Amino acid sequence: MSTLPKPDASLDAADLLRRPLHNDIIELSGGYAFPQFLPDVTREAGIAATVYRHETMQYAEVLGLDDLRDLIVSFVKADGVSCDRDNVMIVNGAKHGLDLICRAFLQPGDRVIVTAPSYMTALSILRTHQVEFLSVRQDDDGIVTGDLENQLLNDQAEGRPLPKLLFDVPEFHNPTGITTSLARRRQLVELANRFGFLIIEDDPYRRIRFEGDPVPPIKSLDDRGVVIALGTASKIVAPGLRIGWVIAEPDIIERMAGFKADGGTNPFSQRIFAELLRTNQIDELVAKLVAELRLHRDAMISSLAKALPEAEVRTPPGGYFLWVTFPAGTDADLLAGLAPTYGVRIYPGRLSYAGQPVLPAIRLCYSYEDPERIAEGISRLGRAYKAMHSQGLDDATKASLLARLGKVPIH
Ligand SMILES: Cc1ncc(COP(=O)(O)O)c(C=O)c1O
Repeated sequence: MSTLPKPDASLDAADLLRRPLHNDIIELSGGYAFPQFLPDVTREAGIAATVYRHETMQYAEVLGLDDLRDLIVSFVKADGVSCDRDNVMIVNGAKHGLDLICRAFLQPGDRVIVTAPSYMTALSILRTHQVEFLSVRQDDDGIVTGDLENQLLNDQAEGRPLPKLLFDVPEFHNPTGITTSLARRRQLVELANRFGFLIIEDDPYRRIRFEGDPVPPIKSLDDRGVVIALGTASKIVAPGLRIGWVIAEPDIIERMAGFKADGGTNPFSQRIFAELLRTNQIDELVAKLVAELRLHRDAMISSLAKALPEAEVRTPPGGYFLWVTFPAGTDADLLAGLAPTYGVRIYPGRLSYAGQPVLPAIRLCYSYEDPERIAEGISRLGRAYKAMHSQGLDDATKASLLARLGKVPIH
């Protein structure tokens, strides 16, 4: 376990307040696509605008284009999920799917199980539905199902209402990068059946695998319809398409569709994505992206070892993020606040917790910047970390620095 560095007499806290904002900020916070790999969809857009004009310039069916729903059935089949068109609804991204699930199944005050830490935007969405969180820790095998079971048994014994939903990202979890083991996935399905909650399996990173073998989706282990799976085009093609999908029992899909008051998901985008799937381009796009992001991840890990030796980080075999923890007593909010003045943006780990952070941590994303800028960004972060140990950094100075951070926009 590493310890906190001592205050550095060569650095003066007053200088921190005088530092201007950097004019070139390296973006290591949000899960943006790698700009150089955004696909050129001129051909697909042309087809959408001509051959399919009467479809793409109209309102769309609430459940999505039949062609795309069928293509999604085949796409998820490759991962072991068997379903029909009736099980699929196209939505405006996975986040939209989550919001619709909340609308269809939750009342204010209902309880939702989340991991600690969890995907920050899912927490924001869940908060807008005024839920109460039941946070369960993770270990290297994912959500600790034994802890969850004990909690649920306690709740039952004490007559507390049981949670209605569980939200998890079992493959390359955001933010920790942990992949839930097969045994834990089976236990989750068993607990959902026993205690009567639905599992939301949010799985945007499954195909962004750098090494090792995939674990079957929870949805593929579900024979009683307790899992609602969310998928998205955002992490494999382009987030700007705003195309995602929900896979669930037809009665669940129907119930959610009742809350989808958007005139249908943009049919132009749906058709572009359908064309990419129909012409089998996704595998190639993903293979190229995986090879690139692997270099990004490796650059970030090796730069962290040099610039922030106090930090602890596990190497995720896929996904977009690193979860970096610091010695107890480190102020991760302050580090995130200071970082932009050193020219790098990161998220404080606090945003990923439904309750109090368990450890000082930050979330780093390696998808957007290239390896060279990632290395430079981490070295800037190292400088910000060092500056946090300036002589005379008192609470008032910290408060002023944090005020400069303002509200952090999250994705
Ligand atoms: C866990 C998780 N789910 C979903 C998404 C993508 O959501 P959407 O499909 O709405 O772009 C992200 C992107 O950051 C994510 O990390």
